[in-house]
Amino acid sequence: MPLDRRRFLRLGSTGALAAAVPSWTRAAGILVPPASPVVLSTWDHGLAANRKAWQVLSDGGNVLDAVVEGVAVVENDLGNRTVGQGGRPDRDGHVTLDACVQDHDGRAGSVAFVEHFPNPVRIARAVMERTPHVMLVGEGAERWARENGFAERRITLPGVQAEWKEWTVQKAYQPVVNIENHDTIGQLAVDARGRLAGSCTTSGMAYKVHGRVGDSPIIGAGLFVDGEVGAACATGTGELVIRIAGSHTVVEMMRQGVEPTEACRQAVERIVRRHRDLDRHQVGFLALRADGAFGAFSLRQGFTFAVSDAAGHRLLASEHMG
Ligand code: GLY
Repeated sequence: MPLDRRRFLRLGSTGALAAAVPSWTRAAGILVPPASPVVLSTWDHGLAANRKAWQVLSDGGNVLDAVVEGVAVVENDLGNRTVGQGGRPDRDGHVTLDACVQDHDGRAGSVAFVEHFPNPVRIARAVMERTPHVMLVGEGAERWARENGFAERRITLPGVQAEWKEWTVQKAYQPVVNIENHDTIGQLAVDARGRLAGSCTTSGMAYKVHGRVGDSPIIGAGLFVDGEVGAACATGTGELVIRIAGSHTVVEMMRQGVEPTEACRQAVERIVRRHRDLDRHQVGFLALRADGAFGAFSLRQGFTFAVSDAAGHRLLASEHMG
């Protein structure tokens, strides 16, 4: 056994490390769940997703059902330009979708670069439940979805196509910050038994290079759930999030006892330290601890998130960098 590992185990067993770890982490198995469920979602459209998730839980559904069917509401909104088939296309005019789910026990499913399916999040769940894999992409994901009972839907939205045609005149490749105050939807939930789950789904960055995949379907980047600690999800420019394994970073900080908002802030700060020229970018994190404590933080003003708990459904503005 390597020396470092022996030393770690020895410190752990003598309690020297344990003393530095907050009590709720040490007592992971007996962490007190919230008195009622807590559901969080990114952006204004998160309110509709939260209402659906809440209804699923109220009707006796489990927390995974809740986060899948919650974000599916937003995927089904063809007026939404950043999630589902209403999203803006890539440079070649294709709307390609990314989504993932993760449950309390860390099981995960994901699809990326799929076209012609209304609810990639449901396919991601099926990948988790029906295959030994975590992630399917592109043509293979589509074929698997068809073979497993998911119906294709081919639609063209004239307004979205016209906007894209106009964009092709200049082909400027500049991500737009907060232009319509919404982006990816990520949803995190904990039920009254302390069971956690999360989901994340997007059409990705408008006019991206064909084949580009962002953070949203990548476990640890766009979403991470650890039933012993909590969950986190990300929104904004996916490349920034992937480079720091953003959602995993937030959850690991909570594991060390950092409060949810502060964990999100430190992840944003890490992105800022590692990048220049962030003027045209937004990035935000949501965090939900297993006891129901939550927080959010973004690079710049404008990131809203929906909260549903015993106090009802409401929209909050995240804290942000100055
Ligand atoms: N956060 C969504 C994306 O970058 O695709």
